[in-house]
Amino acid sequence: MENKLNNPIGVFDSGIGGLTVVKSILQQLPNENIVYFGDTARVPYGTKSNAVVREYTRDDVKILLDHNVKIIVVACNTVSAVALDIVTQMSNIPVVGMIMPGSQAALKSTKSNHIGIIGTTATINSKAYENTILQLNSEAECFSKACPLFVPLAEEGFYNHKATELIAKEYLLTLMENKIDTLILGCTHYPLLKEIILKVTESKVKLIDSGEAAAKNVKKVLTEKKLLNKSKDGALLQFYVSDAPQKISKLGEEFLGRKLGVVRQIHI
Ligand code: DGL
Repeated sequence: MENKLNNPIGVFDSGIGGLTVVKSILQQLPNENIVYFGDTARVPYGTKSNAVVREYTRDDVKILLDHNVKIIVVACNTVSAVALDIVTQMSNIPVVGMIMPGSQAALKSTKSNHIGIIGTTATINSKAYENTILQLNSEAECFSKACPLFVPLAEEGFYNHKATELIAKEYLLTLMENKIDTLILGCTHYPLLKEIILKVTESKVKLIDSGEAAAKNVKKVLTEKKLLNKSKDGALLQFYVSDAPQKISKLGEEFLGRKLGVVRQIHI
């Protein structure tokens, strides 16, 4: 199918966390149309096996391809870590995941070559960030920690809550012992916890928001491939979820930083 400039950017995630990535894309590319799909019926992905995440990924990609997207952004770090090959195989359009941009940004930032990585259990177990960083720079040292409780805490809106601080200490203080100077936020939800993470780490680390790094990459790819939308009409945003569209508006608004408008359901 011919790639048209005003076709939307397709973004998908296991749920609504990927709206943090949409927020970064809109900052970079305010005129691009976006179709977002969040698999709210089957979230979380980060606690599931690779086989199941790969199976779900196929469905998610089909939905975006049906919407005639010109590029696919895999906002979900878990999918980016364990199923990016499936997305690439299924689509003959550009695909941007989170791992490569996040890894490159971390290497650019670090001075000590000691990089911390936090993410879901599936992302951390996959060693995707670690392997990518080491491929790019064999002298880097990576220290990883799965932080599964950060996802429900962010969804509960506990951004500055004592409970989050306590759990952040539990997760992060041992990582800090490795003298990391850079920490990759390898999960869609973690940018919402930036403040508390900085507090707990006493601002001794530079935080790398992989979504932000990926959004810059999306702009680069669209520019190189001459696929940027030339229209100045502003972005048309379409949101789809696989369950409970009425429920996600409020939470989604916090992740996106603005109103979502109509959210439609797609039965998966
Ligand atoms: N979106 C997921 C990620 O970035 C976090 C939520 C989940 O576990 O599905 O890894």
